[in-house]
Amino acid sequence: MKESKGISHFHAGFWTVGLFIVVFLCTCNGDITYSVPEEMKKGTVFGNIAKDLSLSVKGLSDRKARIDMEGNGRRFFDLQGGQLAIAEIIDREELCGSKPSCSLNYELVLENPLELHQITLQIEDINDNPPRFPKSEIRLEIRESAHKGERFPLDEAHDPDVGRNGIQNYSLEKNDYFRIDVNSHSNGRKYGELVLNKELDREQQQQVTLLLTASDGGFPQRSGTAVVRVIVLDANDNLPVFSETVYKVSLPENSHLGTVVVTVSATDADEGANGEITYEFSHISDKEARLFSINEVTGEINMIGTVDFEDKNEYELWVKAKDGAGLASNAKVDVEITDVNDNAPVIYIKSLNVPIPENVASGSEIGIINVQDKDTGGNKQIRCTIQQNVPFKLNPSIKNYYTLVTTAELDRELISDYNVTITATDEGSPPLSSSKTIHLSVSDVNDNPPVFEHQSYSAYVTENNKPGSSVCSVTARDPDWRQNGTVFYSLLPSEVNGFPVSSYVSINGDTGVIHAVRAFDYEQFRSFKVQVEARDNGSPPLSSNVTVSVFITDENDNSPQILYPTPEGNSFMTEMVPKAALSGSLVSKVIAVDADSGQNAWLSYQIVKSTDPGLFTIGLHSGEIRAQRDISESDSMKQNLVISVKDNGQPSLSTTCAVYLLISDNLAEVPELKDMSYEESNSKLTSYLIIALVSV
Ligand SMILES: *[C@@H]1O[C@H](CO)[C@@H](O)[C@H](O)[C@H]1NC(C)=O
Ligand SMILES: *[C@@H]1O[C@H](CO)[C@@H](O)[C@H](O)[C@H]1NC(C)=O
Ligand SMILES: *[C@@H]1O[C@H](CO)[C@@H](O)[C@H](O)[C@H]1NC(C)=O
Repeated sequence: MKESKGISHFHAGFWTVGLFIVVFLCTCNGDITYSVPEEMKKGTVFGNIAKDLSLSVKGLSDRKARIDMEGNGRRFFDLQGGQLAIAEIIDREELCGSKPSCSLNYELVLENPLELHQITLQIEDINDNPPRFPKSEIRLEIRESAHKGERFPLDEAHDPDVGRNGIQNYSLEKNDYFRIDVNSHSNGRKYGELVLNKELDREQQQQVTLLLTASDGGFPQRSGTAVVRVIVLDANDNLPVFSETVYKVSLPENSHLGTVVVTVSATDADEGANGEITYEFSHISDKEARLFSINEVTGEINMIGTVDFEDKNEYELWVKAKDGAGLASNAKVDVEITDVNDNAPVIYIKSLNVPIPENVASGSEIGIINVQDKDTGGNKQIRCTIQQNVPFKLNPSIKNYYTLVTTAELDRELISDYNVTITATDEGSPPLSSSKTIHLSVSDVNDNPPVFEHQSYSAYVTENNKPGSSVCSVTARDPDWRQNGTVFYSLLPSEVNGFPVSSYVSINGDTGVIHAVRAFDYEQFRSFKVQVEARDNGSPPLSSNVTVSVFITDENDNSPQILYPTPEGNSFMTEMVPKAALSGSLVSKVIAVDADSGQNAWLSYQIVKSTDPGLFTIGLHSGEIRAQRDISESDSMKQNLVISVKDNGQPSLSTTCAVYLLISDNLAEVPELKDMSYEESNSKLTSYLIIALVSV
């Protein structure tokens, strides 16, 4: 509680304390303690963590420095740059009640490598609460026969502040009958006892009313008052006496409602109403009042709420036994709460670097996991595991932190994501466990070159193709992701017959379809090779090459060509046939060639017209002209044949030629021949011709 009149002093005090913020730096374990007064304004900077850890502000941010705390507790401050600044006003009394020391524990987490520093905020009390008495009037009944020097305990005042800011003194209004004696409990708490200074006389004064003041030792000092009303009694009376001054009990947390904590008991030597004892709590906080009740008559203390070890593990209850005359004495009940394994471990994923590039080295740190269990002892010991069949493991790190690391190389093309289940089990009995599944995706790296479906390709193109017609298509596959797996095709530069390959074929970069750029001529060249490159769109790109062999196939585009008899120039060329030629004798031969190949060049010969059909015949494929019967005198001397030479293409092409035969033994009989044979001896011409035929 703050009083408005104390505010200006309070600020003065705040600044005074503010100057004394002390930093204890212990470099031995990297733990830092900051001493921080409660009630500081938002934004107040109280520490420079960068300086205290000798790290640069950039180093802190690069290593993702952050403040973690146990469970879901409140943070109260922020890390701003390298400094720690108040983010929420801290009320020490709310956090720590009457504990003499109040500290908050945090962890400063740095990643890569994981590093932890314990940060402790020691919350310093400021005197923001005045002492207060439970009731504004304290009623005491004291017999008139009481002796000088007898003592009567007074109700205590309560001040949530601690140390010097807690209650330091009680004072009593000046009067004739009583003085006050201030004593301390074993725990240091001060209480006052009224001491009789001058014997009372009921007949003279039935009541004494006094102002009691409790004051703390803070700066500024605060105080609270109550009125003590002493009723002077006629009868003899004794104080109640507890069987023990301190009752110690222990109680498992989560005990059922109604559980008997302890039964306190006091006796009073008096008889009747003066010996009738009632019990009550003499000093109880609101919270304790919701958990414990005391039976006024029996002194039995029961649970009326649920105690939680994790919330508070010890209670100090003050009980008062009061007799009918209002005389009272106090005893203390120390209740220790013992832990039950009622909290499963909690898994916190403190950091996760996903997606994981598939090329990370085995052993890389990809996440930080923290496990916590609010229980204590073995109930707090945690084992943390993940399933076996994944390329990850948990490495125990500092305290209850684990790093999640890879144990093998990853291949996105094989497995692109993992569900990893983390299981944390405590060592309680029975143990409690919890689990959490995290999804780890693997991101692509351009680690696969495109691969052609075939080691090489062959394409067959019929000559006289149309320019632009497709020749063949190549396909390469790349299992990488998106652009890393997008394939483009191109021709590698080379020459075919002295011309760039691009003047023969082109390739569609997207589809891999190869087109002819011009018409091919089988008779010019029959095949050529093209190198095709497939390249992905990664950076850097990967590529592979393949050879495409293009074979040009023949088309029947050439007619047979007559070599003999010479078609042009000399249509007078005449063969001599001896008059005595017999059936079957060779008289001449037609020689023809065809520029095409195969069937397109397979020639057949036929006589299509003759002077004397039946006299000569021609070999279908040899082109040899033979007498079909013996030559006789009656046969005409001049014999003309028209020969057709035909190839076997589809459709076939043909040529015709004429052969002139002269049945004669005497060259002189051939007037036409004279013109052409002037340079040769007549007698030798026949044999020359025959030799020529044979050699062809
Ligand atoms: C991981 O879990 C999610 C959600 O349950 C599911 O869609 C996905 O298929 C799982 N992945 C694997 C690799 O098991
Ligand atoms: C392709 O691979 C590179 C590394 O080689 C990577 O940085 C990039 O993210 C990948 N692209 C996609 C779309 O996955
Ligand atoms: C493909 O061929 C080109 C030209 O010869 C060469 O530079 C490149 O290294 C080859 N690429 C592969 C993957 O063999």
